[in-house]
Formats: sequence, C-alpha cells, structure tokens
Amino acid sequence: MAAPLFEDDSKHAYPRDYLGPGTAILEGFALQYEAFIQNALLEIAGQSPFRHMTTPGGFRMSVAMTNCGALGWVTDRKGYRYDSLDPDTGSPWPAMPALFLKLAQRSASEAGFPEFVPEGCLINRYEPGAKLSLHQDKDELDFTAPIVSVSFGLPAMFLFGGDQRSDKTVRIPVVHGDVLVWGGPARMRYHGVMPLKNGVHPLFGGHRYNLTFRKAR
Ligand code: SIN
Ligand code: FE2
Repeated sequence: MAAPLFEDDSKHAYPRDYLGPGTAILEGFALQYEAFIQNALLEIAGQSPFRHMTTPGGFRMSVAMTNCGALGWVTDRKGYRYDSLDPDTGSPWPAMPALFLKLAQRSASEAGFPEFVPEGCLINRYEPGAKLSLHQDKDELDFTAPIVSVSFGLPAMFLFGGDQRSDKTVRIPVVHGDVLVWGGPARMRYHGVMPLKNGVHPLFGGHRYNLTFRKAR
C-alpha cells in the first residue's frame, strides 16, 4: 500500500505541555509541506510583497512581513490591527492556500485545539540580525483560539515567557519544519525571537520564514 501523502511525521521529542498547559512543540511537523510552502510563498509575495512595517512608535521593524487569508496583521503610525486589504496594494490579501489551513488545523489539533479555524496567516521573513522583541499576540478579538507558529528556513532561537513581560523566558531552538502552538491558559504568554544568525538554508537561502496562523475575530 502506498504511504499516505501527508502523514504525521512529527518526532515528538518534547512531551505535550513542555512549556506549560496549552503549549506544544511539534518538531518537524511541517517538513512534508516544505516544497508546497516554498512555492506558495513565492506566489503570495508576488501579489503582496514583503515589507518592513512601522510600529506605532515610529520604528521600522527588522522582520519583513506579508499576509495571506481574509485578514492580515498590519502596523503603522496609527497602531496594530487586522485589515482585509493590503495597505501597500489596496487589494485583498492573497487567499490562504488550502494546505496552509490544513497544516494549521492539524497542528492545533495535535496540541488539543481541534476546532481551530484561522482566517489570517502572518508571514514573517527574517534576514540575519532581524529579531522580534518580546510581545503578546493581543490584537485578535478571540483569545479562545490558539496561535500556531510554523518555521521554515534558517534556524532561530525562540523565546517563550510568561503572562508578564518581566517573567523569565525559556529559549527554544526552532528549525526548519518545526511548529509551536500556544493557546488556552498559554494564549497570552509573552514570546519573541532572538536576532537571526547568518546562514544558508538549502531551500530558503539566507532567510527564516515564520507563518503564524491566528483567529483574528
Ligand atoms: C510572531 O510572534 O509573530 C512570530 C514568531 C516567530 O517568528 O517565530
Ligand atoms: Fe507573536
């Protein structure tokens, strides 16, 4: 019998709830999607290019971003929010490919959130030196849904903290194909990414890509 095309190939080296209740580290869970994702990112960026957005405080983000799906996360001098239109093109964000949704739903189920229906996928592109300061994902209207975060390309050091900015953080190395999920009691945990180190990934070159799936409304 032929092997199923998309079977669960997660190595599960970390026990469920390793980072606390409502969390999961799914090592290699997205690996089987790598070729599809690589092509999809080229198509998405062809429609809605990566750009360095500005924070409300006026700082240029070192991470370049775009979105797919019905709602995209944006930031500018007016604040952080979700928008159905790409402010750079004036058009709707590219549609979320069905396999993105499938990957997000399978990941969430694996972490104990079987009902997850994200309508937005923020796509982050890190170049060497790019980082994401400790923050909470709190621009969504619905905190009952988890955050699903998928990493491709160069490895990075993910920081996972507590509900307070001052809480101690744990460092989790994330590599190509890894998925992190946090929801329920972990939904408001602070998190961030340390400055990306130089490197060359065989598929994704000198970048790290991160897909975060959110239920925004
Ligand atoms: C995010 O918090 O939006 C992205 C995290 C990551 O790039 O791993
Ligand atoms: Fe985040």
